[in-house]
Amino acid sequence: MLPGMDITVRRAEPEDFEGIWRTFLDESAYGGTLQLPCPSRETWRKRLAEPVEAHYVFVACAGEEIVGHAGLHPAGTSPRRAHAMSLGMAVPGPWQGKGVGTALLGTLVDLADGWLNVWRLELTVYADNAPAIALYRKFSFEAEGTHRAYALRGGRYVDAVAMARLRPKAP
Ligand SMILES: CC(C)(COP(=O)(O)OP(=O)(O)OC[C@H]1O[C@@H](n2cnc3c(N)ncnc32)[C@H](O)[C@@H]1OP(=O)(O)O)[C@@H](O)C(=O)NCCC(=O)NCCS
Repeated sequence: MLPGMDITVRRAEPEDFEGIWRTFLDESAYGGTLQLPCPSRETWRKRLAEPVEAHYVFVACAGEEIVGHAGLHPAGTSPRRAHAMSLGMAVPGPWQGKGVGTALLGTLVDLADGWLNVWRLELTVYADNAPAIALYRKFSFEAEGTHRAYALRGGRYVDAVAMARLRPKAP
């Protein structure tokens, strides 16, 4: 719970699919990700109904409303990358800048550091996504390089920055 705000973070459940789908109706949320406009409600229903092992999806809630979500995912199938996980997150426009992303990322980092023994957390973020980059820097993610023309966004190719956080120290 955030002080002064009724925000809680919990694991996503199958019945959360509609709330997650709803957040992606908003361009200010999907525009920062690799999602497409007009998301399919049925696709999200199936995705939440069939959770894949070792993928950890969380939702942030204000009362009953889902106001953001985030996921921690294996970085690959090779055992040589077992120490690494990737993450993604989205908060819809009206809830951005209110600490929801901080609450979600704090949950992912705590899980990775304290419970999953993850040594490297990695992500890609559009180079012009200043709020997201500031959020990741706050949690000690560092930029590692630029993917040029990484993705198409509204008719233009945009660069993305690869960022990663190495776990500060062994327990
Ligand atoms: C990026 C995103 C997850 C951040 O979530 P959020 O709930 O808005 O973030 P918070 O309110 O916790 O703010 C986190 C930090 O971002 C920074 N920040 C917030 N708004 C900002 C802005 N407009 N410009 C620059 N930095 C900003 C601040 O450093 C803030 O930390 P502080 O309040 O301790 O100073 C959210 O904006 C979002 O979902 N955007 C669209 C989808 C997306 O870009 N996903 C990330 C893909 S990599």
